[in-house]
Amino acid sequence: WQASGKAPTDPAPRLAVIGDPVAHSLSPAMHQPALDKAGINARYVKLHVPASVDSFESLFAQLRALGFIGVNVTVPHKATALAAADVADDAATAMGAANTILFADDGKTYAFNTDGIGMAEAIRDAFRIDLRDLRITIVGAGGGAGRAAAVKCALDQCERLVLINRTVSKIQELEEQLRPHFTDDKLHGATERLCAVGLDEPGRLAEELEETDLIINATSVGMKPGEGSPLPAQMILPHHLVFDMIYAPPKTPLLRAAEGNGARIANGSDMLLHQGAAAFAIWFGQDPDIHVMRQALRDASK
Ligand code: ATR
Repeated sequence: WQASGKAPTDPAPRLAVIGDPVAHSLSPAMHQPALDKAGINARYVKLHVPASVDSFESLFAQLRALGFIGVNVTVPHKATALAAADVADDAATAMGAANTILFADDGKTYAFNTDGIGMAEAIRDAFRIDLRDLRITIVGAGGGAGRAAAVKCALDQCERLVLINRTVSKIQELEEQLRPHFTDDKLHGATERLCAVGLDEPGRLAEELEETDLIINATSVGMKPGEGSPLPAQMILPHHLVFDMIYAPPKTPLLRAAEGNGARIANGSDMLLHQGAAAFAIWFGQDPDIHVMRQALRDASK
C-alpha cells in the first residue's frame, strides 16, 4: 500500500562518479536522463572519496556488495583506480589512468579509459574526420589530458604525431612509450612519424606545424581571463583544424587566433558527453540516447 500522492521510491544507487572534489561533476546530470530513457532502474550519484582514502580494493568491494554496476573516476583517483582493477583495457593501461570501472558478473573489476574516445568522437563530430587519417600535433602533452590524447592518437594509428610541451623532458618518456605504434612507414621515410618538441624551439615548431592537419590544445592556457594562446598565432595556418580541449570560455585566444587565420575550430564541450556515452556502453552493452544526454548536459551547464 502506498499513500496517495507519495512519489514512487527512487531506484537504488548503482552508479557513481567518485572524486575529490566531486560536487561540481556534471556526470550524474548527464547519465540519469539517459538511464531513465533506456528504462534502466538505477540511480547515478556523486560519491566524495577523499584523496587520502586507504584502499581502493576495499572501496570497490563495498560498492560491488551494495549492488553497484560500476563507477566513473575523476581526479585524483584515476591512477589508483587503475591499480586496484583486475583487468584493464589498452587505453587505461597506456594512459596510466582509468575513468570508468565495471564490476562485472564474473566477479572481476575491469578498468577502462574513455577520455580518448570522448576526444576522438568530439573531433569527428566537429570536423567529420577520424584521427587515423590525420597528422596531429598535441600542445601540452606533458599533462594528464595531453597524455590521454597522445595515447588515443597512437592507438588509432594516426598518420603522424608531434608532441609539444613547455618542459620537453616531461614528454620524452611518453614519446618512447608510443614509439612502437609508429614503426611502419606511412610517410615513406619523408618525415619522422613521432617526435617531441619544446615550446621554446620556434623554428622547429613552425616546421612541424606546416606538416600538421590537426592541432590539439591540452594545456589549460586560455582558461583564465588575460591568458593568451599557448602557440604563437602566426604559426596557425589556414589548412589547420584546431581543437581546444578547453570549453570555458567557449572560444579561447587560441581558437580566436586560429579562426582569424582561416583555420577551422572546435572546443572541448562535447568531450565529456562522448566519454560518458562510451562509459554507458561499457556498463550496459548498449549506446545511450546521445540526444537526451547532450540536452541534459546543456541544461546542467546553464
Ligand atoms: P594536468 O593536465 O595533469 O592537470 P597541468 O599541470 O595542468 O597537468 O599541465 C597540463 C599541460 O599544460 C602540461 O603539459 C603543462 O606543461 P609543463 O609540462 O611544461 O608544465 C602545460 N602548461 C600549463 N601551463 C602552461 C603555460 N603557461 N604555457 C605552456 N604550457 C603550459
